[in-house]
Amino acid sequence: MTQDELKQAVARAARDYVADRLPVGDILGVGTGSTANFFIDEIAAIKGRIGGTVASSEATAKRLQGHGIRVLDLNDVDAMGIYVDGADEIDHGMAMVKGGGGALTREKIVAAVAETFVCICDASKRVAVMGRFPLPVEVIPMARAHVTRELAKLGGTPKLREGMVTDNGNLIIDVHGLSITDPAGLEARINQIVGVVTNGLFAERGADLLLLATEGGVQTCVR
Ligand code: 5RP
Repeated sequence: MTQDELKQAVARAARDYVADRLPVGDILGVGTGSTANFFIDEIAAIKGRIGGTVASSEATAKRLQGHGIRVLDLNDVDAMGIYVDGADEIDHGMAMVKGGGGALTREKIVAAVAETFVCICDASKRVAVMGRFPLPVEVIPMARAHVTRELAKLGGTPKLREGMVTDNGNLIIDVHGLSITDPAGLEARINQIVGVVTNGLFAERGADLLLLATEGGVQTCVR
């Protein structure tokens, strides 16, 4: 199977999970990226039972609206049953690296509100130790040089993502060459650097459920 076929398969499994578990009329959080895009296309078929969605990026909001799916402002939502999103890496403790698409801050905010975080990936994303995928860090533009110097002290190589401006008007610095053996500790440490908006480690609030597309079918892993 191609990687896109695996993403399609896991998107279908996530649609079935939502159809099964999200009470009719409840709010669904929707992530960003190519796997999330497959998921959006799948939930068009069940949009009648979804009360509304909260999008983790402008691109996701546009795709949802293109299917006639209602998109709400997070501030108008009291509770959200399920958030479905992809990841760049996920370890066996269900911690993730996210932000390959640059939407990490909004993704982390939406995930914080959701009761259940469902991560959807193909098997290439499951790793023993994260860090091969560069860790994205969203940074206030005037703090770029300061944050770059501070990130370099952590042992990796920070590189500005050229041409990238986030939906929040900020920059992304990708930290290459890390070996992330303490995801929660590193997440907290990077967030303490002044000028960092958020970083792409989702360890403090990891996934509750992983739907993992493999050649043998979609596996379900619980935290
Ligand atoms: C976007 C993300 C995505 O979930 C992550 O990059 C995975 O993307 P894809 O499904 O395209 O592999 O965090 O900010």
